[in-house]
Amino acid sequence: MKIFIVYYSMYGHIHRMAEAVREGAGEIGGADVRLYRVPETLPEEVLKNMGALEPQKAMAHVPVCNVNDLPQADAIIFGTPTRFGNMCGQMRQFLDATGELWSQGALVGKVGSVFTSSATQHGGQESTILSFHITLLHQGMVLVGLPYSFAGQMRIDEITGGSPYGASTIAGGRGERMPSENELAAARFQGRHVAGIALKLSRKS
Ligand SMILES: Cc1cc2nc3c(=O)[nH]c(=O)nc-3n(C[C@H](O)[C@H](O)[C@H](O)COP(=O)(O)O)c2cc1C
Repeated sequence: MKIFIVYYSMYGHIHRMAEAVREGAGEIGGADVRLYRVPETLPEEVLKNMGALEPQKAMAHVPVCNVNDLPQADAIIFGTPTRFGNMCGQMRQFLDATGELWSQGALVGKVGSVFTSSATQHGGQESTILSFHITLLHQGMVLVGLPYSFAGQMRIDEITGGSPYGASTIAGGRGERMPSENELAAARFQGRHVAGIALKLSRKS
């Protein structure tokens, strides 16, 4: 069983969450879990002005995904930072290259799941995940979120990301906050949950 974690991260927050998702998915026996980035679309000059060149180096070892590899996966867990309450443009462009897969029904019946990150607590995490789900539904994917059986979702003693729609982290206005233990636990839970469901589906097909 193959689980792909496909993400974009500019400053490393989604990258850290993706690593936690991978840890969780890897706990399900026999899961071959792979981490992929989507291609960058911004010119280097723009990335430099955004202070993204240094953090990008820490993710350079992660292979870039080719859309034609997606049909190999039993489940795909997508990670994207919020951009004005939506997925980032890099992810949008990647998904817009899946038209041929759509016409072949190549992703129909695969498990799809989404996690995210935003600067502010109410800056669009839920809208980012829910609007992302629309594309996955068009591809015929089976949506999986983050159930309330992840108890950390009920916490109000500290600021935390996470909703029934998927794990998330709050990065802060200058990206100064890295994912908290609770947010990483949510990401691990989501990875494990997706892999468990994908395993059950693969045994039935
Ligand atoms: C163009 C742009 C738009 C953004 N829009 C939002 C937003 O709507 N709400 C919010 O809270 N953060 C917003 N952010 C902050 C990013 O979501 C934040 O930098 C990101 O989640 C950090 O994750 P990363 O390090 O993995 O890229 C925006 C950032 C950029 C560059």
